[in-house]
Amino acid sequence: MASNRSNQRPPNLVRRTPMPSSASVAVGTPLQPAVVYASPDADALDDQYEGRASGYTYAREGHPNADVVAAKIDALEASPTPGIMLGSGMGAISAVFLGLLKAGDHIVAGDQLYGRSLRLLTQDLPRFGIECTFVDAGDAANVAAAMRPETKLVMVEVVSNPTLRIADLDGIAAITAHHQALLMMDNTFTTPRAIRAYDHGADIVIHSVTKLLAGHSDVTLGYASVADPGLRQPIVDAAVTWGLTPSPWDCWMAERGMHSFDLRFDRAQQTAGQIADRLAGLAGVEAVIYPGRADHPDAEKAQALLGQNPGNMVSFRISGGRAQANAFIRAAGEIPFAPTLGDIGTTLSHPASSSHRGLTAAGRAELGIDEGFFRLSVGIEDPDLLLSELTAAVAAAQATL
Ligand SMILES: Cc1ncc(COP(=O)(O)O)c(C=O)c1O
Repeated sequence: MASNRSNQRPPNLVRRTPMPSSASVAVGTPLQPAVVYASPDADALDDQYEGRASGYTYAREGHPNADVVAAKIDALEASPTPGIMLGSGMGAISAVFLGLLKAGDHIVAGDQLYGRSLRLLTQDLPRFGIECTFVDAGDAANVAAAMRPETKLVMVEVVSNPTLRIADLDGIAAITAHHQALLMMDNTFTTPRAIRAYDHGADIVIHSVTKLLAGHSDVTLGYASVADPGLRQPIVDAAVTWGLTPSPWDCWMAERGMHSFDLRFDRAQQTAGQIADRLAGLAGVEAVIYPGRADHPDAEKAQALLGQNPGNMVSFRISGGRAQANAFIRAAGEIPFAPTLGDIGTTLSHPASSSHRGLTAAGRAELGIDEGFFRLSVGIEDPDLLLSELTAAVAAAQATL
């Protein structure tokens, strides 16, 4: 029998195979990794570009997974406008600056911001003609004194890193509004669970989603949103033009992590309170800084701003120097010694050898950071396990004195 095989076209492997239809709906969030989107014709594409129809064209300019995770953070922050996803927390901060500032503008910023934010403000923005004055954000009078006619933006983190001091947020918001400048709040540490930034007069909110929101140390992602709809597009354009937008995969991972954000936050915070109290009672612990404790240096402000949500970060100082710090780290060996925060598991950081290593010892001392100073980002492990590990680590450090 003659074969007609030679007349058959080979299967078209290049064309995409359509997804099978299903009467039931997938429960998981779909991941859409496509870089480009096809339109039915040129008019339809026109409609999209002109905003008459919604849809996606090119992933750097937007994709469904970014919008899905942004909507989730928008809901937590009660954001007045749709959030913008960026490739990292630093990407979010950069997109805001690139989109809204120009040469000649001036920024007032808290002097204990995240280290890379400080670097951006001190070393990079000046190259573009933008100056920054740093102030202790604990007192709004310091912000008032630093304001200039050309001050365009005030940047704060409500809880400082790693000394966990509390910014005078409402006072700063009033001064910023009086000067018709923009208040930008980095809400990474506090999260919208503790503070809804827009309720406190923020004009711009940014997040390192990498941290508590995504929560599993396997995603690097950022978020920015604004109160005034007119400020949104310049930030979007900066992000798209400078290539700061994120991949669908990272957005998908973050959205997945966020399903448990509330539960993780509550559990970690509860354990953080227990750890702070336990550490405060141990010989060899000289100081504990936790915004939920009555002996916190800004206890009243913390109570007023954070209420029942003092957070999962605990800082403390043990007696001794580098040798005791090393003994502590080694004895707490199951707790990763890693300069991050917001992971599902507890992590331990030592600012003198990591985030604040660039300062002189005197500069660190001014902030209250010495070799015995540690910061814990508390996770969701069994609290009793953590308490026994930390108690043993303090004893091990004491034994070397
Ligand atoms: C408060 C704060 N803001 C911003 C960032 C930067 O975020 P990312 O590492 O996602 O760029 C960090 C990172 O640790 C941070 O702690």
